[in-house]
Amino acid sequence: MIASPASLATLTWPRQLRVEASVDAVAAHVAERLFQALEQAAVLGLATGRTMEPVYAALRQRLMALPPAPLALLLSRWRSFNLDEYVGLGGDDPRSFAAFMQRQLAGPLQVPAGGLQIPDGCAADPDAEARRYGAAVIAAGGLDLQLLGLGSNGHVGFNEPPCGPEAPCRCLELSRATREQNAAAFGGDPAAVPERAISLGMAEILASRRVLLVVTGAAKAQILRRALQDPPCPEVPASWLQHHPQLEVVVDQAAAAGLELG
Ligand code: GLP
Repeated sequence: MIASPASLATLTWPRQLRVEASVDAVAAHVAERLFQALEQAAVLGLATGRTMEPVYAALRQRLMALPPAPLALLLSRWRSFNLDEYVGLGGDDPRSFAAFMQRQLAGPLQVPAGGLQIPDGCAADPDAEARRYGAAVIAAGGLDLQLLGLGSNGHVGFNEPPCGPEAPCRCLELSRATREQNAAAFGGDPAAVPERAISLGMAEILASRRVLLVVTGAAKAQILRRALQDPPCPEVPASWLQHHPQLEVVVDQAAAAGLELG
């Protein structure tokens, strides 16, 4: 058993699970982890999605409370790679993940150009862009800390089921379930969600030195249980994370409701 507060628990396999009382408490904990990594000039893998909005708000608050000189130093050493981007959307499109990151972190914090990287959704050859992006992660020495949300169909990044643990960074087709999940940003119309995306693969995610999986809300309780407590399988790509030796899972009580805690 990991040292208590009540918010800590173990799973039946030896990874760390932290159950927080609220979304705000989840955000505060994850923001602190990201802050510590930034202080160590770690190479971050960053995620998008609604789950990350309170996390990034807490991180902005934490960073903006720093005195100017330490903040400037930290920002000057910022190196991050986002997980994914829609094919066909550029940073000038508010629905792109590039625009999301600009709103959430790069703009308010004034992260220096080039510090925060994301696949180019408007590249003429998306397959070549995926290869370039995967190579850029390797050239940076790999990811020190990969932040992940969880798709309602069990995807991480945009690694749609079925997906094995060896899948590399690639251009792929989005599932109907994912286009429905993300339709809100496209006027509620799943058909308006791009059909393809570029995503880091399970290979790059599992190669990250540490992984931080963040899941909130009752709607994710069942898929979280399958990801963490059923045998790993291609139908739930997040379940391959069970093989990662340095996985921390941070959830609120609503998302934890389906877990069997030891
Ligand atoms: C999106 C992203 C994922 C994200 C997940 C959950 O499609 N590609 O990186 O973690 O789905 O999104 P949300 O946090 O909005 O539920």
